[in-house]
Amino acid sequence: MTQQMRWLALMGTLMIAAGLGLAVLGEPGRQAAAAESLHIAMVTEGTDLYAQNCVACHGASGEGIAAYPALMTAADLDAQMLFNTVERGRYNTGMAAFGVEEGGILTGMQIESIKVMLQADTWDTVAVRVAELGLTPPQIVAAEIPAETLTLVEALPDGAALAAGLTVYAENCAACHGANGEGSTLAPALNTDELRVRLNDADLARIIQTGVPGTLMASWSGALDANQQQAVIALIGNWGELNTAGIRLPVIEAVPLDSSPQAIANGQRLFNMLCTQCHGIDGYGSPIAPALNNQTFLSQTPDAAIQQIIAGGVTGTTMPSWGGYLNDADIAAITAYLRSLEATAPIIAPTQP
Ligand code: HEC
Ligand code: HEC
Ligand code: HEC
Repeated sequence: MTQQMRWLALMGTLMIAAGLGLAVLGEPGRQAAAAESLHIAMVTEGTDLYAQNCVACHGASGEGIAAYPALMTAADLDAQMLFNTVERGRYNTGMAAFGVEEGGILTGMQIESIKVMLQADTWDTVAVRVAELGLTPPQIVAAEIPAETLTLVEALPDGAALAAGLTVYAENCAACHGANGEGSTLAPALNTDELRVRLNDADLARIIQTGVPGTLMASWSGALDANQQQAVIALIGNWGELNTAGIRLPVIEAVPLDSSPQAIANGQRLFNMLCTQCHGIDGYGSPIAPALNNQTFLSQTPDAAIQQIIAGGVTGTTMPSWGGYLNDADIAAITAYLRSLEATAPIIAPTQP
């Protein structure tokens, strides 16, 4: 026998053996195999649905973004609770109801697949798939703390705690409350004497732990551990010392709307990733959210107002607030993309209030 014939004979024998093996396995084996392939199909579908609908808040690896909770340990949660949370959402939080019967976009079967995927605990594969689909979320806004500023803070009384607080603050809070706690269009100032008189440490702890329902101020109890919360409370309570010492972080400058082709393309990419699920392909609208590719809306709404709506969301509706998660440049790029549609947008009567 030649080498090749010997190989073919071996393959034949193996195939017969495999066939016999399956026959011996019989009915229960086939059922198990079918159940296994159904399980794989559901995990695959659930992964894609997760990539399209959930990464913006829960992260590509289920790690949670900003104040949005991690889902990495969701496999340990009650199965019915998982299903209900995705179907019905959580009242007064960023977690919208995704079930079609609740005004969302996912069928019961699709939610079942997401549930099975969350239980399968395959986050490495999920992250790879999310990247493959080009849906990895951008970094959230963080203020920069120059090394010399940190050294100055550390030299203050209780400096180590203040420096730790400033780090937590820069990474998690500055996007809304401003680089130096001076406040922004999104959130009130945290560095004032008035606030320090009105709120003691216990009040601050309560606000940070529970958030302020119905506003952009989320609960941080899942995202920050007890030490981090303590540190940022110490910072807010002692901001006067930083002010007195003249310590300031560089302010993140708002840039005028960049309407370059790159910005518009970036805005379109973000829009496709985060907004089409509700506002429809190319912003033409859907049963659950109004058309944005709409002459009436675009001509009546200035750029600043569009950016404000995107950043702040619309309280009491499913329109999420993106401000804690997209940076100014991203929000400006989405606005530039929407503005680029104005010339060709159809005239649609204003949506009912
Ligand atoms: C706009 C942000 C946002 C999006 C998008 C989002 N979630 Fe959530 N999700 C939240 C928030 C906020 C909570 C916490 C709600 C609370 O405080 O009870 C949450 C909670 C959850 C929980 C409960 C976790 C727990 O520990 O109790 C699950 C499960 C969940 N989300 C799954 C999903 C799935 C699946 C999707 C996509 C279909 C999704 N979420 C999309 C913001 C979001
Ligand atoms: C996505 C934007 C956003 C982020 C990020 C954010 N906040 Fe807030 N925060 C708000 C808004 C909006 C309010 C006002 C809520 C209201 O109307 O009462 C607020 C209120 C507060 C208040 C009460 C202020 C007062 O005058 O009563 C405190 C304290 C606070 N935030 C601390 C924090 C801390 C600490 C962080 C970071 C760990 C943080 N916030 C992150 C938006 C945000
Ligand atoms: C979960 C569904 C959902 C997602 C995702 C969503 N929106 Fe919305 N959006 C809505 C709803 C619902 C409204 C209408 C709110 C109301 O009744 O005022 C809305 C309103 C708006 C408006 C105001 C429209 C008007 O006519 O006043 C803008 C602008 C907007 N969304 C932009 C965006 C952008 C940009 C994104 C992606 C970054 C996005 N939305 C993602 C549901 C959504």
